[in-house]
Amino acid sequence: MSGGPGARVRHPLPPARWPTRAEAARARLYSPLALGPLHVHERTWVPAMVPWRATEDGHVTRDVLDWYARFAEGRPGVLVVEATGIREVPSGPLLRIGDDRFVPGLRELVEVVRARSRGRTRLFIQVLDFLTVRRRPEPARFFDRHLEVTDALRAKLALWLDDPRWREADEHEVREYLKSADRPTLETVLTDRELEALDYGYRERVWDTHRSWIRDLPRVLPGLFAEAARRAREAGFDGVELHAAHAYTLASFLSRLNTRADGYGGSLAERLRLPLEVLAAVRARVGRDWVVGIRYLGDEVVAGGSPLEDAVWFGVRFAEAGADYLSVSKGGRFEDARQPKVGEAVYPYTGESGWECMPTVWADARGPFGRNAPLAAAIRAAVRAAGHATPVVASGGIGSFELAEGLLARGDADFVAAARQSLADPDWFRKVRLGLGHLVRRCEYTNYCEGLDQRHKQVTCKLWDRELAPGDPAVTLARDGRRRLVAPPWCPPDAPA
Ligand SMILES: Cc1cc2nc3c(=O)[nH]c(=O)nc-3n(C[C@H](O)[C@H](O)[C@H](O)COP(=O)(O)O)c2cc1C
Ligand code: SF4
Repeated sequence: MSGGPGARVRHPLPPARWPTRAEAARARLYSPLALGPLHVHERTWVPAMVPWRATEDGHVTRDVLDWYARFAEGRPGVLVVEATGIREVPSGPLLRIGDDRFVPGLRELVEVVRARSRGRTRLFIQVLDFLTVRRRPEPARFFDRHLEVTDALRAKLALWLDDPRWREADEHEVREYLKSADRPTLETVLTDRELEALDYGYRERVWDTHRSWIRDLPRVLPGLFAEAARRAREAGFDGVELHAAHAYTLASFLSRLNTRADGYGGSLAERLRLPLEVLAAVRARVGRDWVVGIRYLGDEVVAGGSPLEDAVWFGVRFAEAGADYLSVSKGGRFEDARQPKVGEAVYPYTGESGWECMPTVWADARGPFGRNAPLAAAIRAAVRAAGHATPVVASGGIGSFELAEGLLARGDADFVAAARQSLADPDWFRKVRLGLGHLVRRCEYTNYCEGLDQRHKQVTCKLWDRELAPGDPAVTLARDGRRRLVAPPWCPPDAPA
């Protein structure tokens, strides 16, 4: 994914004016704020970023500890641990929290972050559920194994080929015929979902209620999220973030595309019902004295998906229901994702909605910088108008002090999240606070890191991953042996602050 909607202008990084240490000390960005029951030292925030470093069965590794330790050294107000699966399903090197056996590793992670941030950084963990997405199959394999040969398919073949014998054709004959059929035939006789499974790989929807496990999601998910949150609390986290953004289950319940007819889809209130039941179950399990926040979409950016108007309504309801913060993201959906190669899975950040989630410098006239802040601003305004003080977190292309401080000054957000800028320089918030902004390694917003994520490779930043002293035992390398896994260390020139 290289360019944004209909435009290919490369935007230069805006010149940065960094504050002096005294100015930074007076800045809103470095002022404290309560987040539910928690005191947060400053408004700086590192949002969830999956680095592909867990074991294949979802446990914390040394590399996971190093990754979070490095962010903690920059001492942001809040650090959110990557999307972590709540279910007992294998998910490759993504963290999991669906059983008590994951707690000891996560506890170690909490301890490392406490120690490296000198207790300044508040640590949350993002918890998620996701549905099945299969790789794009070899066409022959699809017709041999995956396609269900139904009477409806036989009838369509009979009609299309003008030969009634197809109504009685045996399964093998149908499969063999389709293997060599031309595209117009396939487009005529297969359903949209079957064609999608052939062209992109099979993908479940939350409205596939003919499948029992999908029908049961409203019955099952509140308990699974509640247990995950209980484990997070036991591991010592300061809170949990319910992942209701991007391409995952709770986001899909919120979507206008959700047509479930069982009271959990259709109208705004019905789409919100399961996320609210999850929030209530989590709250009941962990109590009021522990942070429960929500990340969700200010705009899905896909045809027929939920626009800002819906997100504003959801935001007020989440606040009413006692969410401790609302973290606003954008896009990142499967619906407009690019077709994957055979053998690969569709990836939700390859279409326009994916671009809006992590905008690059190749953009339309608005450019990528602070691009998604208006969504947070609109949600925050509605939440305040409804009488709630729930903090709102903005993210998307924020990588300078002026931008961050401007958002806070205008009241667009209460916290400023920076993902890629923090990856480029995990010390950047701290450098700015110390009046050393000129030392910030500035993110170029060209998404080399996101490309690694897309290929399920350990995520690093191009600005530092080749800074290698050959044979340095202190440096852990990626599996490809060519990249360091965390940013080089940095120490303030004078006394550490
Ligand atoms: C490598 C990578 C992994 C990400 N993983 C997650 C994730 O696990 N959960 C999530 O909500 N967002 C995830 N994001 C999105 C970021 O949190 C953030 O919303 C997005 O990058 C836009 O912010 P930025 O412009 O400051 O990078 C990821 C982003 C990147 C670059
Ligand atoms: S690789 Fe580094 S510079 Fe490039 S977008 Fe990612 S964080 Fe920014």
